[in-house]
Amino acid sequence: MDLELAGLSQVERYKLLIGLVIPRPIAWISTWSENGVANCAPFSFFNVISEEPPLCVVSFNRRSDGAIKHTLKNIRRTGEFVVNLVDEATANAMHVSSAELAESESEFDAAGLTPVPAAMVRHPRIAQAPAALECRVERRIEFGPEREMVVGEIVLVHAREGVIDADTKRISQTGYAPIGRLFASRYCTTRQRFDLPGELA
Ligand SMILES: Cc1cc2nc3c(=O)[nH]c(=O)nc-3n(C[C@H](O)[C@H](O)[C@H](O)COP(=O)(O)O)c2cc1C
Repeated sequence: MDLELAGLSQVERYKLLIGLVIPRPIAWISTWSENGVANCAPFSFFNVISEEPPLCVVSFNRRSDGAIKHTLKNIRRTGEFVVNLVDEATANAMHVSSAELAESESEFDAAGLTPVPAAMVRHPRIAQAPAALECRVERRIEFGPEREMVVGEIVLVHAREGVIDADTKRISQTGYAPIGRLFASRYCTTRQRFDLPGELA
């Protein structure tokens, strides 16, 4: 089957692309809103794309009422954000925090989360998350009126005890249980791993 994207509706394209390109990592982004409310929400159009310089990308569409997502608004205002990573223990809270709340309400409260100060950026990180990437905006690219991509320079990695080996800087195979997004409300664990022959650097 060949599907020309120009011949599909926006919803059909969305479902096709998010169903095919799986699993996707999840950026659980935390920011302070202008009114001092701690905001967080998940974004799975996300990945790291480079280590020199250390970069990640996240892309945003609009809220259902057409307004800019609070996360993007806060990123545009401050030029900074925190990407928290999601594990099995925080999956439910992440999902709950995707609700479109009013700017006066905090997803931290709704999902039972605790904001703690980040080290190098002015936004909070999520205390319950296993790891967090503190980011400064490297550039923003708008793709038409409905889609904007933010490229973030990662300036600091925070991880809770047991996730990163302090000497080797390697990630623990047992102390970190990240999840991925499939589509709709479906997620996957990363428990089924396998090795192929040959050594990579
Ligand atoms: C797992 C998951 C992944 C999501 N990925 C994205 C995404 O990549 N881009 C986006 O704009 N919205 C995405 N959303 C929807 C946002 O989380 C949702 O619109 C949220 O209410 C935005 O909150 P904010 O207005 O406080 O920023 C995703 C939702 C879930 C549950």
